[in-house]
Amino acid sequence: MVKKITRNWFVPKGSELTEFDKKILSFQNRGEIVPRPNLIKTPEQIEGIRRSGVVNTGVLDLVESKIRPGMSTAEIDRLVYDYTTAHGAVPAPLNYEGFPKSVCTSVNEVVCHGIPSEDEILEEGDIVNVDVSTILDGYYSDASRMFIVGQTSPEKEKLVRVAKECLDVGREAARPWGFVGDIGKAIARHAHKNGFSVVRDLCGHGVGLEFHEDPEVDHYNTHRHGMLLVPGMVFTIEPMINMGTWEVFIDEEDGWTVVTEDELPSAQWEHTFVMTEDGLEVLTH
Ligand code: MF3
Ligand code: CO
Repeated sequence: MVKKITRNWFVPKGSELTEFDKKILSFQNRGEIVPRPNLIKTPEQIEGIRRSGVVNTGVLDLVESKIRPGMSTAEIDRLVYDYTTAHGAVPAPLNYEGFPKSVCTSVNEVVCHGIPSEDEILEEGDIVNVDVSTILDGYYSDASRMFIVGQTSPEKEKLVRVAKECLDVGREAARPWGFVGDIGKAIARHAHKNGFSVVRDLCGHGVGLEFHEDPEVDHYNTHRHGMLLVPGMVFTIEPMINMGTWEVFIDEEDGWTVVTEDELPSAQWEHTFVMTEDGLEVLTH
């Protein structure tokens, strides 16, 4: 069997190697996985993704201001669609691989990819992930937040807080010329220290010119370096943290909704970041 070819960096024939090329090639020659050139965004592309991120953040701020007990998740979907289109943008989830709505709404034991519904009414004590992704002028951004509906239990409050901390420690662990694997290692340590588990079947991802690009960003300790992190790379970190087991299943009826195996609650936060010479910068503030 032909193994996956991981020597990804190349320079056009006849062109001179820059210091940047040489640095990446030195990692490649040591057997590390390095990005393909198209994963290093130009300043113009980064500005495009940043503008998309401004709309995406506006959507999440709007949802944050409106969410309340008694509201259906379909109402959240309408807010997202109306705001996004009014700002000249397109909700990335809508019709993505057949996804029927403009946003993912994942309540309590739903880990992610929940489909908004008129029949799903938010109740006091629910914890809800709202995952918003926006296309503006061809540029993609992706971020999600947790919302606590009214007041919830101390355990669910802790889960929501620790999941946010996991995003923060993942961000801190990602250094330029470090590796994707550093991120999941740091996240898993923080989750386990707090008695929680980390979902393994879903990951963060490169984003910007498409919804999902390389690299895959695992949130658990893979004991591998993973891809080299090079300034100019744009990707998400989006840890899904469970109160009980890390195992999940996909609802057979809709083919989308990801649920915890033990039906205990799950929480997730997500940002889109660009790697800089000083570490990760958030593009979805
Ligand atoms: N927003 C999700 C992510 O973070 C992807 C959702 S795909 C959809 O990668 F089709 F469900 F929207
Ligand atoms: Co994402």
